[in-house]
Amino acid sequence: MPAMTPSEFVRALYKIALGREADSDGLSHWIQTMESSGDPSIVLRGILDSQEFRLRCEGPEFQADLAKDDEIQYPERMAEVPNVSAEEVHRSLPAPPIGFARDSLFAGIQWHQGWDIFEGVRLPGRNSVEELCGRLRLPADLTGKRILDVGAWHGAFSFECERRGASEVVAFSLEDPELTGFHRIKTLLNSKVEYVVGSVYNLQDYKLGQFDVILFLGVLYHLRYPLLAIDQLLGACQGELLIETHIIHELNGLPIWRFYPGAELNNDPSNWFGPNIAAVITAFQTAGFDISLVEAWGDRAALRGVPSNLLGAFSGTYDGWSHELRSRLGLERPKCR
Ligand SMILES: C[S@@+](CC[C@H](N)C(=O)[O-])C[C@H]1O[C@@H](n2cnc3c(N)ncnc32)[C@H](O)[C@@H]1O
Repeated sequence: MPAMTPSEFVRALYKIALGREADSDGLSHWIQTMESSGDPSIVLRGILDSQEFRLRCEGPEFQADLAKDDEIQYPERMAEVPNVSAEEVHRSLPAPPIGFARDSLFAGIQWHQGWDIFEGVRLPGRNSVEELCGRLRLPADLTGKRILDVGAWHGAFSFECERRGASEVVAFSLEDPELTGFHRIKTLLNSKVEYVVGSVYNLQDYKLGQFDVILFLGVLYHLRYPLLAIDQLLGACQGELLIETHIIHELNGLPIWRFYPGAELNNDPSNWFGPNIAAVITAFQTAGFDISLVEAWGDRAALRGVPSNLLGAFSGTYDGWSHELRSRLGLERPKCR
């Protein structure tokens, strides 16, 4: 297909996004922008950011169009998960070991997680582990459970699970644990938490087995290939998957993944996507999880998934099984509920 001229591109964009012909002022403005920048995405973003586009999305015509699709709905169901009271979780913290030197624990590490490691000693990160465990309704008692903490970083969530009685905890992340706080904490706590260096993209290759609880906290939006990661998580989950993520609030009701090609989110180039809640829910559903929202606050959300009996929709694509094979076997693509 021959490339579009700037004029054709802008006219088409007006038709699709704004539902009208381009007016002459708008047309010449965007053609000029496109020609001087050489970047059509600036025009695309400009039109999608316009007040006219926003109003159109909220308007009855657009909403009616959405409502026509009665097969697919993207609910933001709240999971009925009981709150875990602070009293239940409360336990006496260990005293610091004899000769404990605060500086040798804290120095030289960029702490991200805030966590009470000992009575009167708290890891100095700004993200409170205790608060997030509360939002996720992480059970106070994990006795006998196998836990996988994907994207563990310093491992504070892993150590918290061990403290709650988990029989085995695997911290899995990209970092060398000698360079984060992980080994310092592990040594001080005399912990049995194991650390595996690896990427969630090929989690299955590590043959770690099945887990009763998988933590997937603060990782989703860092991934360039989020769907690949979610498919891998399904294979390791025999119980619950607890997810915490950055979210956006745009076009709620439609699954939207905002792409961050640069450092748009928090000036951090390791952030790739901002999904809205419908996007998070449908991504996990199509991988074969039954998933629901637990809590949303600000630009973050906590969700909980369990493997569903339905075959993940991805297995009906060319990444998995062909349509032909699927229909021969009578396997239905699950509907997003
Ligand atoms: C924002 S930190 C979250 C740390 C921790 N889960 C928490 O909530 O405090 C993101 C973590 O995800 C890890 N991560 C990013 N991409 C990953 C990947 N492909 N596989 C495994 N871990 C990954 C990073 O190395 C980092 O440890």
